[in-house]
Amino acid sequence: MPGAVIVGTQWGDEGKGRFTDFVAKECSLVVRYQGGHNAGHTIVADGEVFKLQLVPSGVLYPWVVPVIGNGVVVDPAVLIAELDMLESMGVETGRLRLSGNAHLIMPYHQELDRVTERFLGKNKLGTTKRGIGPAYADKALRVGLRVQDLLDAKIFREKLDLVLREKNGVLAKVYNRLPMSADEIADQYLSMVPRLAPMIDDTVHLVHESLDAGQWVLFEGAQATYLDLDHGTYPFVTSSNPIAGGVCTGAGVGPRAIERIIGVVKAYTTRVGSGPFPTELFEGDVDGDRLVEIGKEYGTNTGRRRRPGWLDGVMVKHAVRLNTCTEIAIAKLDVLSTFDEIKVCVAYEDDSGTRYEHVPYHQSVLHKVRPVYETLPGWRCEIDGAARLEDLPAAARDYVSFVAELVGVPVSFVSVGPGREQTVVLPRAA
Ligand code: IMP
Repeated sequence: MPGAVIVGTQWGDEGKGRFTDFVAKECSLVVRYQGGHNAGHTIVADGEVFKLQLVPSGVLYPWVVPVIGNGVVVDPAVLIAELDMLESMGVETGRLRLSGNAHLIMPYHQELDRVTERFLGKNKLGTTKRGIGPAYADKALRVGLRVQDLLDAKIFREKLDLVLREKNGVLAKVYNRLPMSADEIADQYLSMVPRLAPMIDDTVHLVHESLDAGQWVLFEGAQATYLDLDHGTYPFVTSSNPIAGGVCTGAGVGPRAIERIIGVVKAYTTRVGSGPFPTELFEGDVDGDRLVEIGKEYGTNTGRRRRPGWLDGVMVKHAVRLNTCTEIAIAKLDVLSTFDEIKVCVAYEDDSGTRYEHVPYHQSVLHKVRPVYETLPGWRCEIDGAARLEDLPAAARDYVSFVAELVGVPVSFVSVGPGREQTVVLPRAA
């Protein structure tokens, strides 16, 4: 039963989309198992740039069935807009399967995301304001509306009326906002049913049929390990479980269905939104500004400047454990090409001189630690034409080996540019 997972080992935006795209071509299904349109995956294929938020990356291969699993939260209008965009670029999207058990993002979720962030003031989480947290909260509260509810207008309306009574109370009385109209929401959502209904399916069954037939199924993570609701830097996290374990609940498979777990590591670190970040290079730092500019570190989705920093090996090592990664993929190695020296954090230290070689569980400690760096020589030449490991200069190969040794698993892929062809496949993964 060969299942493979691609998961981010940092705070997202590692460049997972390109490796997903690479592995997807060998698979029958590519399944999103969590998150929603807070994600933004950029894939450059044959010179064309595809920006995906909800639709799994496998959509670009006609033989792959893209699946939105039960663990995803879906804004149907966003999904339809994305499908229209893909169709207009010549990508056929009729194969997409959408889990009837996935929860819907409703207009009041987006409104609550906006007003609660405002309410938190300087303590805000820096969410994408897409309604992700409120939608998952309603799922846990058991008042969420699911994709399958769209198929019965009466049930949809009953559930909507029930939940909207409470939401409107909160919006009006706590946040001083205008109440929302159930009629308008029902009209808007039910008008999309003719377009969505043919895609709604029992995706758990589909996944198991593929696995039973011995076909590869790729589970595509959005966000990343340190944005995981349970294992990330809470509360500065997303509201789902991006870690590999999230595949089990979010797609409906047991751990034994998974054979390969590829942890994607950007060659440096970035983070959007608030929260602790031990290797952060603050705005104005020359190296940090260079990482942002060369790496084009602005949100795919929100346009926000990402916070930059050197690679944090302590975090990645822990992420490899949390996800039981079988291997890692190093992304954006080319961004480091102009640096004379490259730093990698190998441990943390606090004011008392205590050294940490693992991520301290206590947030207050993590907020205060300082990175202990190892400095490696840069290679100072372009590597974006490298096709094989041997094409990389010795210093770049040493950097790759250093990271592999530090985190304890082999490297399968290295990306050296945004194009599909700029993925170096290391011999073991070939
Ligand atoms: P939410 O997922 O919109 O609730 O945002 C919660 C946190 O996760 C914020 O810090 C966001 O910036 C971050 N976040 C959500 N999605 C992504 C992503 O795809 N890449 C990077 N950060 C993300």
